Amino acid sequence: TWTTKSFIDESIEYIRKKVGDKKVLCALSGGVDSSVAAVLVHKAIGDNLTCMFVDHGLLRKNEGDEVESIFKDTFNMNLIRINAKDRFLDRLKGVVDPEQKRKIIGEEFIRVFEEESKKIGKIDYLVQGTIYPDVIESGGDKGTASVIKSHHNVGGLPEDIDFEIIEPLRKLFKDEVRKVGLELGIPKDLIFRHPFPGPGLGIRVLGEVTDEKLEILKEADYIYRQELKKAGLDKEIWQAFAVLPDVKTVGVMGDERTYSYLIGLRAISSSDGMTGDWYRIPYDVLEKISIRIVNEVPNVNRVVYDITSKPPSTIEWE
Ligand code: XMP
Repeated sequence: TWTTKSFIDESIEYIRKKVGDKKVLCALSGGVDSSVAAVLVHKAIGDNLTCMFVDHGLLRKNEGDEVESIFKDTFNMNLIRINAKDRFLDRLKGVVDPEQKRKIIGEEFIRVFEEESKKIGKIDYLVQGTIYPDVIESGGDKGTASVIKSHHNVGGLPEDIDFEIIEPLRKLFKDEVRKVGLELGIPKDLIFRHPFPGPGLGIRVLGEVTDEKLEILKEADYIYRQELKKAGLDKEIWQAFAVLPDVKTVGVMGDERTYSYLIGLRAISSSDGMTGDWYRIPYDVLEKISIRIVNEVPNVNRVVYDITSKPPSTIEWE
């Protein structure tokens, strides 16, 4: 029978045998799958693994630092973090179309990854956090779902690279990946975090992505998720996040008329993200969130709650 312990032991043995003392590279995104894959490979071969974390600047508040701290400090792994926010924002300047933004972010990610991996020297293997549902999904690549949105992880890597791929989680379902991750000592917060799209906040700042808008969204999203956690709702919800529409509305603060951004809140209950129902957050929790966001986030004077399910809406707004 399958146990996390036997899976880990067998994987370590297999990876050690296969890799020997060759060099291995892993692209870390901070997501569950790539994190578990990286820690597993690290257990097997230690410092022969180098992890590369391309921070596109489109992660949530504190997320980049958290990723760095977990892998560098907790697990003592070789981690190279590349802060590439300026490059991504440069390329996104003036771009408003969601699919165009996805394409640019995906391409730029690969470009940065290639440039930086060349600096490391010879690499023989590349670790990928592919899990079983990904294998099925890419087998049916011409399916309808992918037509709706170009659905590619930012971790999707170039095809012309000349190293072999190691995919230690290829036979696991998500819940099994989580169990393995916990057994390996990866923090619960990372293991149970909500799904987060590869293009990140790049598709949650609606329309053109700018530094100013990113900062507003990060703060509002942070408050939102913090209050959901305090209310004990984060575990029940499949995915919750704030979005920043490219819209300003009128408000009053004191005696002053304001003309500022609005924040949209999204919370979805779902089991797989394919369909979903808008989550009924209690009014008093919503009120607290709204008051905090308007009081604490500069340039925001209104908060709205998304009450549409999927379908007909998608989970993300772009
Ligand atoms: P939608 O918005 O299509 O989202 O209902 C379904 C799930 O997929 C995630 N999502 C993405 N993930 N790259 C990703 O890696 C993307 O471009 C992307 N678009 C949506 C979304 O967060 C939800 O979990």
